[in-house]
Amino acid sequence: MGLFPELDALLKKRIGLAHLPTPIEKLERLSGELGVTLYVKRDDLTESVASGNKIRKLEYLLYDAKEKGCDMLITCGGVQSNHCRATAAIAVRMGFACHLILRGDEPAIPDGNLLIDRILGATTAFYTREDFKNLPEIERDTVAMLEKQGRRPYLIPMGGSNATGSLGYIKMIEELKDILPAFDHIYCALGSGGTYAGMAIGLKHHGISSRLRGIAVCDDVAYFKAEVTRILREFDEWYGITFPDDLFNMDFDDRFVGIGYALNTPDELKELIRIARLEGLILDPVYTLKTFLGMMQQIREGKVAKGAKVLFIHTGGHYGIFPKGEEFKGVL
Ligand SMILES: Cc1ncc(COP(=O)(O)O)c(C=O)c1O
Repeated sequence: MGLFPELDALLKKRIGLAHLPTPIEKLERLSGELGVTLYVKRDDLTESVASGNKIRKLEYLLYDAKEKGCDMLITCGGVQSNHCRATAAIAVRMGFACHLILRGDEPAIPDGNLLIDRILGATTAFYTREDFKNLPEIERDTVAMLEKQGRRPYLIPMGGSNATGSLGYIKMIEELKDILPAFDHIYCALGSGGTYAGMAIGLKHHGISSRLRGIAVCDDVAYFKAEVTRILREFDEWYGITFPDDLFNMDFDDRFVGIGYALNTPDELKELIRIARLEGLILDPVYTLKTFLGMMQQIREGKVAKGAKVLFIHTGGHYGIFPKGEEFKGVL
């Protein structure tokens, strides 16, 4: 039993959807280059069409949706949201309808994640960046409209990041608990904060002292401190689990957002190509590439001791490569 006994019952409220456990692989050449022992947790292999980190959150969100008698999933994100694509795929598998609230213009030809959303039959509504700022209102109106049509919608927040979704990454730490104590550092992307929140709780729950570091791919440290704090507090409000103060000390770095969320410089894409050709590992340009660049920089800066054992969480996102064919053309 872990530090928070109430968690053990909550972790059972799950529908098995992902192919678990995902493998862990050593990156031999990059380990040599960086002077550490670097492993990657292949959460890009959780599934195919629903691949990546979101399916772990959806295992818990879908359990809740079913328990509440819902028949439709509503969620939101950018036009190229991995979370929306994974939700659309799981909706079909579980016999739910799916509606996506998307930020950005509708492209003339759907590509990447949006193409998969379309193939899976999710309905979509597009909002400008300006309008999307009123997301709570859009969500309220969408739920009301669908209820009027006789649906019983279940609203999943951006990135599946609330206390229920985060249970998926507490569970992921359970999957790793026997080997994790040997790791000094764990790195993950910060997109909406749920992956980090779940892992931070899981590490505390199992008394594992590996240092968890989050690299922001959008926004800044203050934003993610607020978001992860909100998720941690939801455990208190929804499930009556109060976490100790030290869980609120987070290790975030926002220096690698670069020219903006989902935007890449040619140099970043060149690194994606270099890593792919060195290790046969493909990172996604939006999340895992920037996180990997952040991790390498922290190692070079000495934030990670020489010879340390490091685990990088590959959270997926491969479909996000395809809409960037034009940009890759310049660097391939
Ligand atoms: C591929 C990928 N990696 C990482 C993340 C970040 O995870 P989280 O939203 O839980 O912070 C996301 C989504 O935001 C993602 O799609």
